[in-house]
Amino acid sequence: MSTYLSGIQPSGMQHLGNYFGAIRGHIEAQREGGEHFYFIADYHALTTSRDPEALRERVRETAITYLALGLDPERATLFRHSDVPEVCELAWLLACVTGMGLLERAHSYKDKKAKGIQATVGLFTYPVLMAADILAYESDRVPVGTDQLQHVEMAQDMAGYFNHAYGEVFRRPEPVLPEEGRFARVVGLDGEKMSKSNENGIWIFESGKPLAKRIGRIVTDSRAPAEPKDPEELLPFCFLELFLDSDELEDWRARTREGGEGAPGYGHMKARIVEAVEETFAPARVRREELLADPGEVDRILARGAEKARAIAVGVRDRALAACGLRNPLPR
Ligand code: ADP
Ligand code: TRP
Repeated sequence: MSTYLSGIQPSGMQHLGNYFGAIRGHIEAQREGGEHFYFIADYHALTTSRDPEALRERVRETAITYLALGLDPERATLFRHSDVPEVCELAWLLACVTGMGLLERAHSYKDKKAKGIQATVGLFTYPVLMAADILAYESDRVPVGTDQLQHVEMAQDMAGYFNHAYGEVFRRPEPVLPEEGRFARVVGLDGEKMSKSNENGIWIFESGKPLAKRIGRIVTDSRAPAEPKDPEELLPFCFLELFLDSDELEDWRARTREGGEGAPGYGHMKARIVEAVEETFAPARVRREELLADPGEVDRILARGAEKARAIAVGVRDRALAACGLRNPLPR
């Protein structure tokens, strides 16, 4: 039976790129058999966060986002990274069998350093903690974006180093990459990749006037509606493609190519995008409001998740401690 595990950065307000590129896949996976673990990576967030109140807020908002969008805590275990401190112990054991060279090759560390993020020891050794996260729950399937692939491969290496030194303790994890296609790289209002750092995103739960205003910012030109156009070149179509079924999409494309009386203007396209976002996320917006009004419920879900996840991590930690000589051998 497969065990799926993924860590979610507590970035708080998630955008449509996060939804189509990551969150939706996490939530849909719960329908498959096996075990599913998702944790909000708050230990990880400390590599860049210095604002305790903002971090607490972002962790809560991230949990609420997943629950509102349909993560079912009965099927998938949702918890907070720091509620399972055993991962830090495991990270130390892994660090002691891992060569510096492996971490020095990490693209993510090099990229962050190049962006001017302070090169703390935590940022540098973070892949070791991530390996511990993966190995602590005996997960064999790890859904990640392509930017995280190298980290999963490092976890495979670290599991191998430890097992080679001390015997088979860790299960080898395999990455699960997103399918290619329009959902793998959702573009933002300016046509660049949608990203928090590009400030070109559409928040999943935005609605009403602020949503209409934001969609209004999708970059278009000044050609008249009647002028025939190639839909492939028009940014509003990148958004329509996320939401419309193929028949409706084809109709919009055909009328745009054709031009003339029946052709939609950019205003029409944008109005349809607003409607689609409103409609798609309406139930999730309601659920989010309910969760915001009942903070105790979110705390209970995270606490139950942590209890279940921790029981597994404690077992793996005990095996690892015994294997390397920090505890007596476990009875067979
Ligand atoms: P951001 O760039 O906004 O900070 P993150 O790097 O925190 O987003 O990404 C969180 C998850 O969302 C990752 O799995 C990432 O692959 C996915 N993701 C982020 N932006 C997009 C996008 N524009 N299109 C598709 N997936 C995305
Ligand atoms: N590093 C991942 C990211 O930046 C988050 C993460 C932490 C993770 N631990 C993990 C993902 C373990 C998969 C498995 O998105």
